[in-house]
Amino acid sequence: MLTRARRLRLDERVRNMTRETRLSKDSLIYPIFVEEGKDIRTDIVTMPGQKRYSIDTMGEELEAVSKAGVKNIMFFGAPAHKDECGSGAYHDHGIIQEALRAAKKDFPQLYYIGDVCMCEYTSHGHCGILKGDTVDNDKTLPLLAKTAVSQVKAGADMVAPSDMMDGRVLAIREALDEAGCEDIPIMSYAAKYASAFYGPFREAAGSDNFKGNRKTYQMDYHNRREALKEVFLDLEEGADIIMVKPALSYLDIIREIRDHIDVPVAAYSVSGEYAMIKAAAMAGMVEEDAIVAETTTSIFRAGADMLITYFAKEVAQMIQSGRIG
Ligand code: PBG
Repeated sequence: MLTRARRLRLDERVRNMTRETRLSKDSLIYPIFVEEGKDIRTDIVTMPGQKRYSIDTMGEELEAVSKAGVKNIMFFGAPAHKDECGSGAYHDHGIIQEALRAAKKDFPQLYYIGDVCMCEYTSHGHCGILKGDTVDNDKTLPLLAKTAVSQVKAGADMVAPSDMMDGRVLAIREALDEAGCEDIPIMSYAAKYASAFYGPFREAAGSDNFKGNRKTYQMDYHNRREALKEVFLDLEEGADIIMVKPALSYLDIIREIRDHIDVPVAAYSVSGEYAMIKAAAMAGMVEEDAIVAETTTSIFRAGADMLITYFAKEVAQMIQSGRIG
């Protein structure tokens, strides 16, 4: 035998030396839910370990995140009032806008990404304004653009449209440029699938009012080529970063996109992925740390350059200790 694959596995130092996938804390993004009100630290029941904070308490979590070495935050808002046209999304004093102002002031070392969507702010829970029982694409675009500009004016360093309307990247790019924000990057949720894995997010973001599904705008999970179509459209419209969502059931999509484009690819390991790992670990069926280490590494191995994950603090610690990466 000339080749013995085990030679490179027999010593931990060699195994670490020859790892093909490297992880960095710099690539982690942590999502936080901010609710309108005071003194709020509400446990999100379907996402054990995650809480909804108000602006006056979110500093505790931003502090913990920062201490863990995670540098990037994605904000989601849970407003006190919702209406037909989701006006809380683009109000200059909306929950996200105020949260961004406060966070930028108290934790200027962190990088803030605003999720641009209307579903947390609409009374019907859809990601845009309705015409009959479906979302009116073109009427929604200016509102998304307005949302992005108001988030950036409030301090967002980057915006991430997650609504899946056609043409939103261009609409947002033009509005940002017009407002003098031409240096703000857009991370597009380009390949976002209509997924049952978003279930716990509805509780987390206080959008359990939503009934139905998002199949008329989010992608059908049978499709792979269509993901590339969405990606190329968004790149033509000016997207700086492309996102795939969810992550774990879509590793093939991450790889496909990575192999076809040159811009950074992000993956979002969503609420249901987090919940499944937590539930299995709490039932004593799997070892949480080991599963988090393995699944997280697999997303980077598939080709993601960065990862949005509710496990960001734990993953940062694993990278710090040398367990992964
Ligand atoms: C808003 C949005 C959703 C998620 C991120 N942005 C919900 C949805 O599209 O239904 C889901 C995130 C998660 O499940 O962790 N459109």
